[in-house]
Amino acid sequence: MGKNETRPIAVVILAAGQGTRMRSDRAKVLHEVAGRPMLDHVLDAARALRPQRTVVVVGHQAETVEELVGDRAVCALQAEQLGTGHAVSQALGALPGFRGDVVVLYGDTPLITAATLRRLVRAHRKTTTKYPSASATVVSMFVDDPAGYGRIVRGESDSDLAIVEDRDANADQRTIDEVNTGLYCFDFAFLRKRLANLASDNAQGEYYLTDLIAAAAKGSRARCFALEDATEAMGINSRLDLAGAEALLQRRIVEGWMARGVTFLDPSTAYVGAEVTIGADTVVGPNVRLSGSTKIGKRCVLDGSSFLTDTTFGDDVLVRWGTVTDRARVGRGVKLGPYAHLRPEAWLAEDVHIGNFVEVKKSRIGRGSKANHLTYIGDAEIGRGTNIGAGTITCNYDGFDKHPTVIGDGVQIGSDTQLVAPVRIRDGAYVAAGSTVTRDVEGDALAFNQKPQRVRSGWAVSFRKRKAAERADKKKAAGSKTGAGKKRG
Ligand code: UD1
Ligand code: CA
Repeated sequence: MGKNETRPIAVVILAAGQGTRMRSDRAKVLHEVAGRPMLDHVLDAARALRPQRTVVVVGHQAETVEELVGDRAVCALQAEQLGTGHAVSQALGALPGFRGDVVVLYGDTPLITAATLRRLVRAHRKTTTKYPSASATVVSMFVDDPAGYGRIVRGESDSDLAIVEDRDANADQRTIDEVNTGLYCFDFAFLRKRLANLASDNAQGEYYLTDLIAAAAKGSRARCFALEDATEAMGINSRLDLAGAEALLQRRIVEGWMARGVTFLDPSTAYVGAEVTIGADTVVGPNVRLSGSTKIGKRCVLDGSSFLTDTTFGDDVLVRWGTVTDRARVGRGVKLGPYAHLRPEAWLAEDVHIGNFVEVKKSRIGRGSKANHLTYIGDAEIGRGTNIGAGTITCNYDGFDKHPTVIGDGVQIGSDTQLVAPVRIRDGAYVAAGSTVTRDVEGDALAFNQKPQRVRSGWAVSFRKRKAAERADKKKAAGSKTGAGKKRG
């Protein structure tokens, strides 16, 4: 390992700005892309550099941003936003005694990759006979519309390299399509010394970090290289940018899962959160949204139009159209839907079937048990091989408290049954269709309610006759009314 590889790295992420153009009460870096705040994406990319220290410069909504950062970095407060150079100065206090290179990046560029950060550090540390090492390296990109960006002005020789901000650029400079991405690497000693000398005599009256490039270039110690994929450095300034970044990141995520063996039937309509995992040979249909910490096993089939949040699936799960799950755990070989609803703490063991219009909340269902139609199961514990008939309801709530329903193994619950909790039905019992169960049922027993059936022979014939006569009378009355009141021409 060369001397350069052991040189420490520090990362400084600028996240103090308000992001006025977002028109939001929330600080810009807290807005989400692929279900995570954009600052999380930047912190993740930075972590790949194994920095000795990471500092996030906070200002607007400092407390909320600090909370998000947690122990992943030290936060430095920039109370007043006097420019990107000023922002980096605020981070110096968090780097006492540091010797090495500092990577500076902006918290509003969530598409940045670890590979690009590594390439930046490599480029910065590369030594040639001409340049012993760089003091400052900046990453540029070529864009169709450079408006708003700092322009990379290259001049006659390397010592003329400079960044000119949009509002300070002359007409000639404005036509330059190579712009500053806002991604830099600095020698720490150089950075500390030169930040102290920054002036704010520019169009915005700000301390520009970008001025350090010209300062380094003076001694031929500045470098600049261009990104191949300009979308990586996309800065989010508005809701339009946010939607654009989301689309780009979704494509990246979905293509990443395809490369790992997942089929997407309509990739443009899939949404996959940044933390989601999907097993190989799983097929994802149209309009499927997988978010939060969702984990999908191997060989699962998701027909389509399903929203899965913080849900874990084993292998070989079949999810038919229109299923919604939240904080559920689903075992291998389970069949769900169409139109099933698993709410928090629905835990289904292997081979359970949950059919159409069945809702399960905070309940455990044992291996191979089934609830196939129109049922509510809440606060229940159900054993193995039990069948819950159509329209069964656990009446778990008395208006004040929730009560448990416990059902054993091999139980048959007849259709349209109400289980008034707390209640327990033991192994092998039968509950007759249409029962209201208010007391515990012992094993292998039959529970039913006394509701004698009565029959009136021929009742339907006379009922239909009466109805037909009523209808004829009504028609007659209506006919005489329009005849008297209205004349038709
Ligand atoms: C900046 C660059 C510009 C570059 C562009 C790339 C400067 C002077 N200009 O312009 O060359 O092309 O980014 O997107 O650096 N911030 C603070 N404190 C401040 C000011 C800014 O923390 O006092 C943070 C912001 O929250 C943001 C980042 O720094 O995350 C960039 O600031 P922004 O105002 O968006 O700079 P641009 O005008 O876009
Ligand atoms: Ca910006």
